Amino acid sequence: MTAKVIDGKAIAEQIRTEVTNEVSKRATAGLPRPGLATVLVGDNPGSQSYVRSKQKACKEAGIESFGHELPADVSQKELEGLVVSLSADPRVNGILVQLPLPAGLDEEGVLNAVALNKDVDGFHPVNIGRLAQKGREPLFIPCTPAGVMYMLNQELPSLEGVNAVVLGRSNIVGMPVALLLVRANATVTICHSRTKNLADVVRQADVLVAAVGRAEMVRGSWIKPGAVVIDVGINRVEDASRPRGYRLVGDVAYDEAVQVAGAITPVPGGVGPMTIAMLLRNTLRAAEIAD
Ligand code: GUN
Repeated sequence: MTAKVIDGKAIAEQIRTEVTNEVSKRATAGLPRPGLATVLVGDNPGSQSYVRSKQKACKEAGIESFGHELPADVSQKELEGLVVSLSADPRVNGILVQLPLPAGLDEEGVLNAVALNKDVDGFHPVNIGRLAQKGREPLFIPCTPAGVMYMLNQELPSLEGVNAVVLGRSNIVGMPVALLLVRANATVTICHSRTKNLADVVRQADVLVAAVGRAEMVRGSWIKPGAVVIDVGINRVEDASRPRGYRLVGDVAYDEAVQVAGAITPVPGGVGPMTIAMLLRNTLRAAEIAD
């Protein structure tokens, strides 16, 4: 059996078209354009490229973007001051502080300064706390985890009682994905660098979400036949045959896994485009909350 390939690019495109249409309806109704402020600290090339893609996507959807770039040695006070001023700026509906921040800055302090109703990344401690608690509703769900759940939902409309294994426990992906899966009534196992018999644990997974950042770590032989595999990893591996000298691969050995899984996301073209689509959606929602 060969797995169904989940086309994240096409799904994201559809969501972006929906957001674009809603934004233009707002303009016709005389409502202000949604606005997203991006805050980029330091000169990490990966972060620079992510922020550029987010700004470009905003432009294409008719969302205004306000870019702020600060040097890596900015003080905590100055950075928090900027976020506080964006929180008070009526043109700004959403605030995105690109993570990770350079060493020496207190991430939690910065995220705490984001107004709750502008927390389009869903990383404010209150939003994450609500995500972890029964009967509480976060205002926004973090973008990559929301994209993962959107794709899973299309494959498996009910996750009730499903064995879900999450590889990785990062604040940005692994942990919020695990919390979302619990909220969807899946039975969730979180694996990390200290997990014993990892391959055996993964073999129990009806749903596997891989978010560890290690190129092709998950082998085809680890995958339960028919499982839905969502690969969040985007890893560069050297490849002299490519013009850029590298190619991108996921955390899952795709060529092996595609022979075993029921459905699988490719890298690139899987989860990546969904993150941006969810950010646009959250920014539109933030503008609607502000109306
Ligand atoms: N770094 C990696 N992914 C993300 C994300 O979704 N949002 C922010 N702010 N930083 C990130």
